Amino acid sequence: MNASAAQRTPIIAGNWKMNLDHLQAIALVQKLSWGLKDVRHDYGQVEVAVFPPFTDLRSVQTLLAADKLSIVLGAQDVSPHEAGAYTGDVSAQMLAKLEAKYVIVGHSERRHGHGESDETVGLKALAAHRAGLVPMICVGETAEDLDEHGAAAIPLAQLAAAIAPLPADAEIVVAYEPVWAIGSGQAATPEQAQDVARTLRDSLRDLRGDSVADATRILYGGSVSSQNIAGFMRQADVDGALVGGASLKSDEFSRIIQFPKHVTGS
Ligand code: PGA
Repeated sequence: MNASAAQRTPIIAGNWKMNLDHLQAIALVQKLSWGLKDVRHDYGQVEVAVFPPFTDLRSVQTLLAADKLSIVLGAQDVSPHEAGAYTGDVSAQMLAKLEAKYVIVGHSERRHGHGESDETVGLKALAAHRAGLVPMICVGETAEDLDEHGAAAIPLAQLAAAIAPLPADAEIVVAYEPVWAIGSGQAATPEQAQDVARTLRDSLRDLRGDSVADATRILYGGSVSSQNIAGFMRQADVDGALVGGASLKSDEFSRIIQFPKHVTGS
């Protein structure tokens, strides 16, 4: 790990997608926090974030505040608009009021399932930033993109478009999620993840300068489990993971969070 990698606090983020109602959400966060307390998890060493569905956010926020838990809250999507006649949308302001810190923008399930363009993703990132949230910008290539353009071309273009509307020093988190690896059980190799993460960081260096490039956390996502997390976290430019399916089981998610134990082998 180089000096700058050591300065970046890794994040293990759980993207629940459309799973768990608000009662199940409370149960999961309680179990997770008890498990992490038992192993004396150091939240300063590895940040832990959960991204429940909108309907669960208030319940989880209340639990985190009441029990003074250090788990951080995020949302899975946000409107690009500030307020108004946008039926079904949720604004960044509303999420900020719920003490959310992060919001996922540009997840491939939104890009492909809801036709979200690069431009929309950029506007969502901007709305999040303006409300004081940190956008977690997802980028990644499909299997066809991989065959046609290689791994990095699409993620690079998606990242450039997403950050274009943001001020130069805006804090962002980037999640590299190859679409073919999401929910497939077929994760990228640690070397593949590192190659793309490195390329994304180089591009941030060109577009935004050294301090942004060195400070930005770049996560890997796609079929992450407690079995493969250590390999990713050994890579110099991978600063955490965006975990889908495996974040729905508190024991498994807790083992992923405890990756430093596997990485050092202790
Ligand atoms: P997965 O999902 O871990 O279930 O592959 C990751 C994601 O979509 O964020």
